[in-house]
Amino acid sequence: MITNTELEHKGDLFPSKIINFERDGDSVFFYSENNVVLKITVLRDSLFRFRFTTKGYFNADFSYAIDENHTRGFNKLEVSEDENFYFITTSKVICEVGKKDMKHRLLDVENNVILEDELGFHWEEMYEYGGNVVKMSKISKDGESFYGLGDKATHLNLKGKRLENWATDQYAFSKDQEPLYKSVPFYIGLKDKKAYGVFFDNTFRTYFDFAHERRNVTSFWAEGGEMNYYFFYGPEMQDVVTSYTDLTGKPELPPLWALGYHQCKWSYYPEAKVKEIAGKFRELQIPCDGIYLDIDYMDGFRCFTWNKDYFPDPKKMVAELAEDGFKTIVIIDPGIKIDRDYWVYNEGIENDYFCKRADGPLMKGKVWPGECNFPDYTNPEVRQWWAGLFKELISEIGVKGVWNDMNEPAVMEVPTKTFPLDVRHDYDGNPCSHRKAHNIYGTQMARATYEGVKKFAYPKRPFVITRSAYSGAQKYTSSWTGDNVASWEHLWIANIQMQRMSLSGMGFTGSDIGGFAEQPSGELYARWIQLGVFHPFCRTHSSGHHGEQEPWAFDEEVINITRKFVNLRYQLLPYLYTMFYQYISEGIPMLKPLVYFDQQDPQTHYRTDEFIFGNQILVCPILEPNSKGRRMYIPAGEWYNYWTSEKVSGGKEIWVDSQYDEIPVFVKSGAIIPKYPVQQYVGEKDFDEVTLEVYFKSGKETSVVYEDAQDGYDYAKGRYSLRTFKLTGKENELIITQHKEGKFVTGYHSFKINLINLPFEIRSIQIDNEEVSILDLQSGNDNFLTINKDFSELHIIGN
Ligand code: GLC
Repeated sequence: MITNTELEHKGDLFPSKIINFERDGDSVFFYSENNVVLKITVLRDSLFRFRFTTKGYFNADFSYAIDENHTRGFNKLEVSEDENFYFITTSKVICEVGKKDMKHRLLDVENNVILEDELGFHWEEMYEYGGNVVKMSKISKDGESFYGLGDKATHLNLKGKRLENWATDQYAFSKDQEPLYKSVPFYIGLKDKKAYGVFFDNTFRTYFDFAHERRNVTSFWAEGGEMNYYFFYGPEMQDVVTSYTDLTGKPELPPLWALGYHQCKWSYYPEAKVKEIAGKFRELQIPCDGIYLDIDYMDGFRCFTWNKDYFPDPKKMVAELAEDGFKTIVIIDPGIKIDRDYWVYNEGIENDYFCKRADGPLMKGKVWPGECNFPDYTNPEVRQWWAGLFKELISEIGVKGVWNDMNEPAVMEVPTKTFPLDVRHDYDGNPCSHRKAHNIYGTQMARATYEGVKKFAYPKRPFVITRSAYSGAQKYTSSWTGDNVASWEHLWIANIQMQRMSLSGMGFTGSDIGGFAEQPSGELYARWIQLGVFHPFCRTHSSGHHGEQEPWAFDEEVINITRKFVNLRYQLLPYLYTMFYQYISEGIPMLKPLVYFDQQDPQTHYRTDEFIFGNQILVCPILEPNSKGRRMYIPAGEWYNYWTSEKVSGGKEIWVDSQYDEIPVFVKSGAIIPKYPVQQYVGEKDFDEVTLEVYFKSGKETSVVYEDAQDGYDYAKGRYSLRTFKLTGKENELIITQHKEGKFVTGYHSFKINLINLPFEIRSIQIDNEEVSILDLQSGNDNFLTINKDFSELHIIGN
């Protein structure tokens, strides 16, 4: 019997006293009298791995989550002991291991306790399946806060909650509902303003309890596998998040168009309908790059086939859409219809690629096409086969992206909504049951899809999206948050989910804008699009059962609001692309909850609504009907209201007026925000000029702008352009220096510099130490100066 509470430890077993230890390179092994071995590996000075076995030896070490290219190396590793403890000391962390019970605690080098065992590691033997339920409990403090854990639809701060990781097709989920589609067993703790992280790399069903059951205890446990967790020390949350993202992997850059706006519905068909939708976007001048085909494009929901009645010539249609700037993205599901006349099914059977039950029969379950078998994506050979299936779609038909759905895996008409637990999986040569492979199944499907799309899209970049994911899935795919509901509560949920996913290393995520189930009012849709354009993945999707959800399904005002905000997203594309670049190169989350932005300010620890988009833009959605504004918290520093240019000082809660066509947006003072002209799709226009909006600050601020060819892999060979702008503002002076890196030559020639809130009148201007006439630089409007893009120093002197 599996217990799912760490308190029920009547039959629990604990490590006994340590009788031996040995060091082997970067690892230290501790052996207890009752056969427990604890292996502590130092990966970096502030990153330790803890692995336990209860049988005296370890099984082969294998993880789908850990990126083989993760950073390793430390400055110091010393092992010492006294009468009661062993000590492992690096330049950042001290780990004490108790000789009598293997309990450990982690301290910083000033001896502040960061994380300390309560019961520590313990386990329950499992007669039914073999192995153990492995458990860990830690002491937590009253003021401690917790974040992370992927897509949980609950308060951003997880303090007081119990959560479960078991990927589930959770149609029309509600607030606090557990579990959801994704499984990201990683959390960040914040104690005494110092942050640390824990990644419990275990794909079995896992639970996390953050002082829910007992006030000063946090715990996590799994229904099998090893107690195997990583500890990250901050003290900055930024260090924890970037280090976790480095360990579990960073994606490649998506094609820039993937950061544009996407339109989806279940389903757009036939061809004439798809074209009508695409045409309407162009007619109404609402930018759009992605158009989706949901399951009805297939022949009887058979993957890799087309319904020729609806789509007689897909290649022609995709090409015509492409001419108008639309990239076609199609859905794929894991269920393969059992049908002797269907080549994909036949190939799967002939090669033994489908999952089997414990005693040999194929795993059979109902999904859209009826009875299906399911590829075992945890088998590398099956992934290769699956990847190859995309040849026609991508190389021949010209599809640009693939949408992986139902990969929890979802099964219809059964109470568990998924496979029975006895289903067998290869797990890359570590055969196991579904208990272990369930949470990773979706990621391996998305990975196989990614490999196929990448291969056939080359030399262009692939675009892949998934519903289910485990830690590390970000290496292969973007994601969305599944079947949400057109309700105000779900707008609140979407805002939190996207911040949480960003903190969990999986920032390239969006919600179904407007809600998937049910029908939004025009107002709700407008408020959702106003938030959605600030999410890394921006797509409207709906079940289509209750009405239309294109912008024009609502009134004129909603159309105008949609255009205004989607335009803004397209203007901000270089800013968005730069934050993506910082994510793929340094692991920096694209959205930053306020607590990430300023963990020293306790006011931020429970904030949920406001977030930082990239590094310098503060956004706060309107989450209620009939709103004329809202209260919100402005974090420390000076900020400019984006709409009025009015300056506010942070560190306080304020009321912000906000009409129907606005939401509160603030820009950090000193920021230089790049803007492209509005385009109807990425690459529509060649432009000669890029705008830099310069928000004056008396003081210093650095801004960066990353650009490249917007697709392809030349950027990896140095063909990118990274501009670093340093702004220094004084009473009657403003200096902007530019440093350029990379070999890519951008197509435009000049910057149109918009000086916002310059506190003085311009007397003279020097560019690279040469005085230039102001009149030569100004084009009608006093605020704008047009200057060559390659300036090194712009010096503006006031009266
Ligand atoms: C699932 C997906 C949804 C999709 C539908 C039909 O419910 O989550 O996005 O539209 O299946 O394929």
